[in-house]
Amino acid sequence: MTKKLFIKTWGCQMNVYDSARMADVLAPLGYRPVEEPDGADMVILNTCHIREKAAEKVFSELGRLRQMKDRKAEAEDGRMILAVAGCVAQAEGEEIVARAPFVDMVFGPQTYHTLPEMVAKASRAAGSVLNTDFPAESKFDFLPEEADGQGVSAFLAVQEGCDKFCTFCVVPYTRGAEFSRPAAQIIAEARRMVAAGTREINLLGQNVNAWHGEGPAGGTWGLGRLVRALAEIDGLERIRYTTSHPRDMDDELIRAHAEVPQLMPYLHLPVQSGSDRILAAMNRKHSADDYRRLVDRLRAAKPDLALSGDFIVGFPGETDADFAATLKLVSDVGYAQAYSFKYSPRPGTPAAVDGAQLSEEVKEDRLSALQQLLNAQQVAFNHGFIGRSVPVLFDRAGRRDGQLLGRSPWMQSVHAEANPRLLGRIVEVRVDAALANSLAGTVATVDGAVTAGGHAPSPSFQLAQTLEASA
Ligand code: 5AD
Ligand code: SF4
Repeated sequence: MTKKLFIKTWGCQMNVYDSARMADVLAPLGYRPVEEPDGADMVILNTCHIREKAAEKVFSELGRLRQMKDRKAEAEDGRMILAVAGCVAQAEGEEIVARAPFVDMVFGPQTYHTLPEMVAKASRAAGSVLNTDFPAESKFDFLPEEADGQGVSAFLAVQEGCDKFCTFCVVPYTRGAEFSRPAAQIIAEARRMVAAGTREINLLGQNVNAWHGEGPAGGTWGLGRLVRALAEIDGLERIRYTTSHPRDMDDELIRAHAEVPQLMPYLHLPVQSGSDRILAAMNRKHSADDYRRLVDRLRAAKPDLALSGDFIVGFPGETDADFAATLKLVSDVGYAQAYSFKYSPRPGTPAAVDGAQLSEEVKEDRLSALQQLLNAQQVAFNHGFIGRSVPVLFDRAGRRDGQLLGRSPWMQSVHAEANPRLLGRIVEVRVDAALANSLAGTVATVDGAVTAGGHAPSPSFQLAQTLEASA
């Protein structure tokens, strides 16, 4: 009998990936994903602990789910197994079990390959099954093969965890130590994905460029080498990776940007702050100028590289001068797109107990000033594409009828009227308009035939010029 499985996912792409894998693990037990929690046989909340009130959101969601669980029981429609997974479960598992004893399973990001055992235990016994160990084995050795049809553009986890211990971040505590999957395992998974229709693979890791996996013939490979090996897979048209740390950007990977055409010209390279004092307090172990020099080397290798980043404003002790240094770095570098956050003290991290916490008001003001600058850069970057033709990999239906949505090499969302048979193909699209977060275009046609093909040459725009235009 099929059973209904509802998974709600918060947070990063790794959580999205984990949720998909949980569904794969549960499929042999008869669970099939559904869109609504009401009436489901199992509900999993896959949680995120990186910022703000994460636990409170989980508890309020659990309140609602408890009613659904009770309703299902009263209707004698079987039992709803309720689970909390992910980083909040890892960090606050015992509190969840104590405060919400109606939760059946609580497990962290490293143990969900044991879901069948946990389900069996939860079905037998009353009370919660708590499983937040960091097991010696890697879950990747136990997960079933991913379900077919991951989509045109799909994630492939290659690395997990983090040993860097930035003083603001919970990841090293919730995800555990850095772990790299062996190259052969990754290449085999990529081949299966491509055979099932995937055209773009986004290599995923909390510190993806720190990946140093066992090579197929022994020895250790770095990410640049892995990218080259993946580029040999026939039918894999695009490769991306996320998220990177500046200190792990080695020569081999930079060279891959210059030499591997399938490696897309977009890089998410968080710097967090432009102040050396704050970078040191964050334990980033590099200076703002180190980052500038790295960006120069990357752009020398790949002149049209679009950069993205993460920024934290209002880190403890951040002065006006420190914040001005962040704005200066953003102006110097020029981002195509970026994420920015107010510092949020995370329990158990060193910065949370720093005496120099800033007021909410200061954080708000700085965030809005930074976002204004980043938005202006994004708008300028996107406007630089109007009138140009860009190769778009259509990966889904657009919001309006007759539209497809895809991505440019520089990660911009592009929508255009297009025949559905262009789904999964790279098509030249002329950009007609730049909206806040996307581009609108027209599929280029030649003699009435749609042009579709491999990699068109990059547009000859100069990022620096585009950015100057906005200043
Ligand atoms: N407060 C605010 N932002 C944070 N991030 C990580 N931890 C915190 C925190 N405590 C941001 C960083 C990181 C991104 C994933 O989330 O910018 O790169
Ligand atoms: Fe967190 Fe820093 Fe590790 Fe990134 S590098 S996951 S910010 S500790």
